[in-house]
Amino acid sequence: MSELADRLRALPSFPDDMPGLDPDALPEDPSALFLAWLEDAIASGARQPHAMTFQTLTEDGAPAARTLILKDLDARGLHISTHRTSRKGQQLAADPRAAMTFFWRESGRQVWVGGEVEALDEAISQADWASRPTYDGVPNPDWQVYALQPARWEFTQSRLDRKHVRIGYRLGAEGWHHERLTTPAG
Ligand SMILES: Cc1cc2nc3c(=O)[nH]c(=O)nc-3n(C[C@H](O)[C@H](O)[C@H](O)COP(=O)(O)O)c2cc1C
Repeated sequence: MSELADRLRALPSFPDDMPGLDPDALPEDPSALFLAWLEDAIASGARQPHAMTFQTLTEDGAPAARTLILKDLDARGLHISTHRTSRKGQQLAADPRAAMTFFWRESGRQVWVGGEVEALDEAISQADWASRPTYDGVPNPDWQVYALQPARWEFTQSRLDRKHVRIGYRLGAEGWHHERLTTPAG
């Protein structure tokens, strides 16, 4: 093993005191669990608890990812904002499938949510643009708010013994269905 591998292996992975996740006491609606975890992350005082990795697909189907800020969550889904002409904007125009991965290291929690994005209307996009700290009074027609409408969620609560609790939610004809995922998570 290389010296780098030794140093990486020696790094602590998780905090000593992580919350639990009871698979028998889960909400029917996954966004309720997400909001509870987001509130915990905000209360922890960690910087940018609303930052996540946002995944899209390139024209040839390759994955692409970058960090974005979550702007809102409502019935339309999880909101992000960006330039319509950016690479991700062009990728979303060609293929609306996308996913978000949140990781909150203070609690050892990860949330993955996937679905399709919808471009929201101009008024919402310009209101978001105008709320940015660098706003100089000039509207930006290239600015776009998108909402990711969740079709799948996966919640992971890490554990020191590595027996992480993973819960998958899927949207079916009858609404949300959840199950404990037992595949080894590493
Ligand atoms: C913490 C953090 C937050 C960011 N938030 C946003 C964001 O909300 N919207 C955005 O367009 N870019 C944001 N960026 C920049 C993107 O990560 C990315 O570099 C940029 O949008 C270009 O991505 P693209 O070429 O894949 O379209 C953020 C970067 C960081 C490090």
